[in-house]
Amino acid sequence: MALLKLENLHVALEDGTEIVKGVDLEVDTNEVHAIMGPNGSGKSTLAYALMGHPAYEITEGRLYFDGEDVTEMGADERAQRGLFLAFQYPHAIPGVTVTSFLRSAINAVRKARNNGVDDPIAIPEFRKELLGEMDRLKVSRELASRYLNDGFSGGEKKRVEILQMAMLKPRIAVLDETDSGLDIDALRVVASGVNELVGPEMGALVITHYQRILNYVTPDHVHVFVNGRIVASGGPELAEKLESEGYDPFIPAKVVTEA
Ligand SMILES: Nc1ncnc2c1ncn2[C@@H]1O[C@H](COP(=O)(O)OP(=O)(O)OP(=O)(O)O)[C@@H](O)[C@H]1O
Ligand SMILES: [Mg+2]
Repeated sequence: MALLKLENLHVALEDGTEIVKGVDLEVDTNEVHAIMGPNGSGKSTLAYALMGHPAYEITEGRLYFDGEDVTEMGADERAQRGLFLAFQYPHAIPGVTVTSFLRSAINAVRKARNNGVDDPIAIPEFRKELLGEMDRLKVSRELASRYLNDGFSGGEKKRVEILQMAMLKPRIAVLDETDSGLDIDALRVVASGVNELVGPEMGALVITHYQRILNYVTPDHVHVFVNGRIVASGGPELAEKLESEGYDPFIPAKVVTEA
């Protein structure tokens, strides 16, 4: 079984509206999967449900991580197992600096992996790693002592999401529209961060509604996502087809209208 496995996953909003309508998908380490779909098709809803956001309920189907059924698990337990989500709209946490946020997140994962016993990272080791990753990802050092995402520009938020990924070293990273709002330099930084981390230790699920980031992160598998479902899967050439033809050929209502 792949590291991350979605089996007939259905997701509903708190009012019961079903948004994700049966998704089967397997993502393994060493693989980049891209999910591409139009606005409002349910991509972020799927991403939130994968992470265990309480407002997005899995109403049918199962979610497996490393062979374990994590469908009913909370976000913290999934994160401790190595699932990571970079948000489309990262929230600000006034009062919590980037540095202290990252250290707590790392220590929570370390504690879980140490059978629930505290095993905090030594501060010099943490600082060395943080500064190294910040330089590598071209995140301004000034951001480290600021409150997380508080007043950050769109590009700064996305870079800090990638910094979190680099520091937490997840096994599967889900990146929701991490490319939107980035200038070309930031896009390259984000893409190279993903490219460097994907390998025997990590796989990635890149969610996007346009092809731009895929010029820098080559997906092994592309899935077209329309109205809560994967309607087509293929290789990187599928992303190019979408770029030239748009989503219309994949939208059932439009096919009917044109017929
Ligand atoms: N918390 C919520 N409350 C109400 N409606 C919601 C909520 N979350 C999602 N929706 C609705 O679910 C549908 C799918 O939204 P979602 O954000 O998953 O789409 P998306 O594919 O990520 O779109 P985009 O490409 O614009 O990011 C939309 O109609 C949206 O308004
Ligand atoms: Mg979205």
